[in-house]
Amino acid sequence: MPISAGIDALALGLPRRHVDLRDLAEARGVPSSKYLDGIGTVRMSVAGPEEDPVTLGADAARRALRLGGVDPKEIGLCIVGTETAVDHSKPVAAFLHGLLGLPSACRVFETKHACFGGTAGLMNALDWIASGSARGRAALVVCSDIARYPLGSAGEPTQGAGAVAMIIRENPRLVSLEVGRTGSFARDVYDFWRPLDRKDALVDGQFSVQCYLDALSGAYADWKSRAEPTDLPLARTCYHVPYGKMARKAHRQRKILDGLSPEAADATFATEVAASLDFPSRIGNVYTGSLYVALASLLHAESRAIAGQRIGLFSYGSGCAAELFAGKVEESAPALVDHLDLEAPLRASERITIAEYEVLRRGDATADRRPAESTPQPAIPGEPRFLGVDSGERRVYG
Ligand code: CAA
Repeated sequence: MPISAGIDALALGLPRRHVDLRDLAEARGVPSSKYLDGIGTVRMSVAGPEEDPVTLGADAARRALRLGGVDPKEIGLCIVGTETAVDHSKPVAAFLHGLLGLPSACRVFETKHACFGGTAGLMNALDWIASGSARGRAALVVCSDIARYPLGSAGEPTQGAGAVAMIIRENPRLVSLEVGRTGSFARDVYDFWRPLDRKDALVDGQFSVQCYLDALSGAYADWKSRAEPTDLPLARTCYHVPYGKMARKAHRQRKILDGLSPEAADATFATEVAASLDFPSRIGNVYTGSLYVALASLLHAESRAIAGQRIGLFSYGSGCAAELFAGKVEESAPALVDHLDLEAPLRASERITIAEYEVLRRGDATADRRPAESTPQPAIPGEPRFLGVDSGERRVYG
């Protein structure tokens, strides 16, 4: 009997601010239809100096624990997937362990492989449960990132920021995953990279699109080779979403691999993918979290319609690694999704002007080194804020 394990609860953590891409298009002298339709993004979340992958991750995790009704004492594994970590040695997971009050008998670490890092953490958590190491405890997997490209570059409208926290355990209430039946693909490529001294990423944009599609084909073929005659079809598929159009291209390619014409492939998009792209189009790229933002969007919009059905998930990380896997939306999901109110952080976000956004981005270079004592204490009790560093270059959170 295969083990039943997967996503028991899930929540997002987002920056307080966003840019409307119509404003960015106007400022860059580009038709807004290029960003809204050509790229497929309406807004991008922008992190301020008091927000970083630790605060975003802690925010998402607190919400997942609280609304999911999970006691932090139940957590025996805490993994943070990120490609925008705050220290070369100390993992974001260690900060979360402290901020969330997790037990000392807990395995805590960070995973990195570009946008695949969160999925690496998720797979690790599933294997931890399947191996028996969990001993009835739950895992907390957090995907937290701030996507930055140079101002005015082609990548700029595909920025974003945020975190997704997932409670992973046996007999999950949201989505049970098919443990041990994933399809993998890897290849050594330079499609997207970020040298150690940079905050913004370098990318070979069109090449990265091709790498993503090649990885999808490879992972899908590997996944299909594990198919069993009793497998149900995938009612929906969530893809890694660097921007909405990429997920559309991915879905077309997967359907063509199944033998459909491009037109027939596109005709399935509205039913099988569109609902998963609402949140991503209002947040932008969250690197490690993007696939799981898409899953949150799908569950928020359609958990009642797809309860009991099989869904697919495709994770891509530049460099590159990819994995395709599937799961079942549990009958208990709709009621819990209502309670989790996954959209709440999107509604709370405030629109800023391009001038304000550019001031924030120019401040990125110095935000990590500002002295903590010069930062006012956070106005909202309970919300973690990055205050700066102390005289020993230790990061201080309020
Ligand atoms: N109205 C409507 N559509 C328009 C338009 C207009 N006025 N003008 C252009 N478009 C369309 C284009 O036809 C194109 O559509 P198709 O892809 O269907 O042909 C789309 O808008 C984009 O136009 P361009 O290809 O000219 O865009 P660009 O060269 O300016 O940049 C990009 C696109 C390369 C993706 C760039 O945004 C980029 O470098 N992004 C970062 C890298 C990235 O996200 N790569 C994705 C794969 S890698 C990955 O997934 C990992 C990750 O998270 C980074």
